[in-house]
Amino acid sequence: MAQTRTQQTKFLLSESELPRHWYNIRADMPNPAQPVLHPGTGEPVGPDDLAPLFPMELILQEVSEDAEVAIPEEILDIYRLWRPTPLHRAHRLEQAIDTRSRIFYKYEGVSPPGSHKPNTAVAQAYYNAKEGRTRLATETGAGQWGSALAFACTLFGLECKVYMVKISYEQKPFRRSLIQAWGATIVPSPSDETQVGRAIHEQYPGSPGSLGIAISEAVEDAAGREDTAYSLGSVLNHVLLHQTVIGQEAIAQMAQADAFPDVVIGCVGGGSNFAGLSFPFLREKIGGREIDVLACEPAACPTLTRGVFAYDFGDTSKLTPLAPMHTLGHDFVPAPIHAGGLRYHGVAPLISQLVRDGLVRAEAYLQNDCFASAVEFARHEGIIPAPEAAHAIHGAITTAKAADEAGEERTILFNLCGHGHFALKAYEDHLSGNLLDV
Ligand SMILES: Cc1ncc(COP(=O)(O)O)c(C=O)c1O
Repeated sequence: MAQTRTQQTKFLLSESELPRHWYNIRADMPNPAQPVLHPGTGEPVGPDDLAPLFPMELILQEVSEDAEVAIPEEILDIYRLWRPTPLHRAHRLEQAIDTRSRIFYKYEGVSPPGSHKPNTAVAQAYYNAKEGRTRLATETGAGQWGSALAFACTLFGLECKVYMVKISYEQKPFRRSLIQAWGATIVPSPSDETQVGRAIHEQYPGSPGSLGIAISEAVEDAAGREDTAYSLGSVLNHVLLHQTVIGQEAIAQMAQADAFPDVVIGCVGGGSNFAGLSFPFLREKIGGREIDVLACEPAACPTLTRGVFAYDFGDTSKLTPLAPMHTLGHDFVPAPIHAGGLRYHGVAPLISQLVRDGLVRAEAYLQNDCFASAVEFARHEGIIPAPEAAHAIHGAITTAKAADEAGEERTILFNLCGHGHFALKAYEDHLSGNLLDV
């Protein structure tokens, strides 16, 4: 039986300590990310190009160079439903793996939809409602983003249409119910409701779908209706910006624990939870502090470790602007691993640039290894992690074990960006030995 300890386990902030601004890393990056280009003209996209899809306030945030962007009171009011989120010291996991390192995790699974995603969903719904849009269209992989946007839309009285990657739609039926309970409409992608979806059905019958395809469908939907804006749950600068409440809180909580991380770890799909935790720490790293910042991705979709850095489309059907990013190609359809939120061919341009500049490094892991780490974590810390977050846990455990082998002691902080209550099929498959490694 694990020995009981009296050290503090949870580090909590009061509501009055909620960050009042988002942190914009563009103000501090040694080399700016290259501009996003219009595919027709090859010129950088301007506000007018984006206006049919996004409200002006988000477009301005997309190009802002200010280090801090104030969070409107109306958004803070909603953040207070679950923020500040707790920071935990994983004493029991440390003991179980017999490490000399200290492991901390920031837990974003306490939000109503169960992940970090509402940090930006609420902000996006707010600005859209403020500027008169009445309906949002979006894609979702595992369903975390779709449920976050459905939740945010219902709070602001907006209609919401979700295109859910077909394989996840089948694997995670209860995410569908959650999205519907919050009043949104959901269809599997590829669907029959868009030209893009019908074309994919014709060309690739039985396609499991991908985030790239679902984005194309949502963009087509939004571009075709005046009342509708498009909403993206990751990749874009303003999305990463909204997530930085995570890292700002974590810095204050680590100080409560009288600690500062040597290693900051997050899983990367499009990059938003990773950015949310790591950007405020990268500000310190750019300022001269030594921190190892590790991005964890699936071996089945190894964008940062095996992709090329190039201009590429954000979606399969080439409806989006060209983004400068690490990419596996816009037509890459990843194998149907359970971490649906990590099945994206590209990654945020800001993260790509930080990788190129050596400020962030990346590793890719097999899904069974990640689930083994997630199960170990669950058996000692209790929380059942989202399959995406399992990659960060695996990164943290691997880092701690490597430090032990080297005779070193590290302070490790990772983002437990969501719970896995709607992904139990994945655990069933892993525990029964039916999960394929790709
Ligand atoms: C729980 C969870 N973690 C991570 C991700 C990956 O997205 P991002 O890299 O933007 O955090 C997702 C995406 O759906 C998710 O649901």
